[in-house]
Amino acid sequence: MGVKIVDTALRDGSQSLLATRLTTEEILRVAPLLDKAGYYALEVWGGATFDACLRFLDEDPWERLRAIRKACPNTKLRKLRDGFKNTKLQMLFRGQNILGYHHYPDDIVEKFVERSLANGIDIIRVFDALNDVRNLKSAVDACKKYGGHCQIALSYTTSPVHTVAYYVDLAKEVEKMGADSLCIKDMAGVLLPEDAYKLIHELKKGTNLPIELHSHCTGGICQLTYRRAIEAGVDIIDTALSPLSGGTSQPATEAFNYALKGTKYDPKLKQDMLDEAAAILSPIKEKYLKNGILKPKALSCNPSILKYQVPGGMLSNLMSQLEKQGAMDKYDEVLKEVPRVRKDLGYPPLVTPLSQMVGTQAVMNVITGERYKMVPKEIKDYLHGYYGKAPAPVDPKIQKKIIGDDPVITYRPADKLAPEFEKLKKEYRKIAKCDEDVLSIALFEQTAISFLKRKYGLEAESFSVSL
Ligand code: CO
Repeated sequence: MGVKIVDTALRDGSQSLLATRLTTEEILRVAPLLDKAGYYALEVWGGATFDACLRFLDEDPWERLRAIRKACPNTKLRKLRDGFKNTKLQMLFRGQNILGYHHYPDDIVEKFVERSLANGIDIIRVFDALNDVRNLKSAVDACKKYGGHCQIALSYTTSPVHTVAYYVDLAKEVEKMGADSLCIKDMAGVLLPEDAYKLIHELKKGTNLPIELHSHCTGGICQLTYRRAIEAGVDIIDTALSPLSGGTSQPATEAFNYALKGTKYDPKLKQDMLDEAAAILSPIKEKYLKNGILKPKALSCNPSILKYQVPGGMLSNLMSQLEKQGAMDKYDEVLKEVPRVRKDLGYPPLVTPLSQMVGTQAVMNVITGERYKMVPKEIKDYLHGYYGKAPAPVDPKIQKKIIGDDPVITYRPADKLAPEFEKLKKEYRKIAKCDEDVLSIALFEQTAISFLKRKYGLEAESFSVSL
């Protein structure tokens, strides 16, 4: 059987290259073609798409999902496991953080999973930045309860603790938790070809789960890495339709369809459908290049990330933080500080929200001229254990300097969060017309409230909270 392909253009491609600005109208122009191309799945929702809809596009993310579902009539094989021929819709879900940036109570997680599946998602890819499996459990349980395909993604990073054995042990654990498939999520694009071969080979031996590889072209090695992963038996790879591929995104789908043609790995995608969809997406990409949302820099590879192990999105964040401070001359110094901060903090993988946190700390350490003189609240929370367990012990001296002798929690961070859904539903009954609206508010508070107010044409006075 050939390698299965998940196309990420409409989610990760848009997020990596277009600051997640692809609109629903643009998505709907290509979705029906991709639906007929023979993919395993289309990644279309979750990650930053939800936030971007509410914050920048003035769109209801739930309506987007329903519209994509409608536009993809071939993607309706929910509750079926492997063996089906049709494509499915996939989303990215940050464990207990859902699509937001902090931990939410279990009832919000469960409700979000339930409504995502009900509105059209088939596969939920759940991950936790720290690979703390306690932070995955609510989402995994809910996904299984409501009949979704639950994929658990392990955040890939390199460090003395992130060995092949570490990932195999984790894979066995998530298999026991009930995952339907496993993904190695290399958000930084730092997985080297031979390391990928070893990792996938050992994972195939250690678990029975189908294995998917998700990487980025940022470092310029992704195609080679995928090739070796395929030779090691990886079941699924993530690629993006050519206009939204390369640079900080995934490698081009068409390239793999051609490169593997006629081999035992042949993904057998319908090239004419891909060509037709790419012809529509190309001028859309040009538009974003012209209006400055797509930065030419994002389109080329940057092998220095292999040295500093910093994801592409984080590089651009660091640059804009330094630009604002008028300190672009400190860029190299900050890049060198990032791995040091990571080591101090017990080697957290650099993925949302940890990538932003570590990046900001590195900038502060360099700009103030004294390490940890200034520390953002999020880093303090992390040291208190509020994000979960650090992969390796935190440097005790650094910990002491930042939080003194404060106790560090050892329970699951969401354990102490009281249920919120019914409370919010009551509190915002005037602006939340359905459960989906309540969830938007639960995740994005003021951003969602102002969006819903505009959507329903409510005046500022009439929606004021009545407790
Ligand atoms: Co990605």
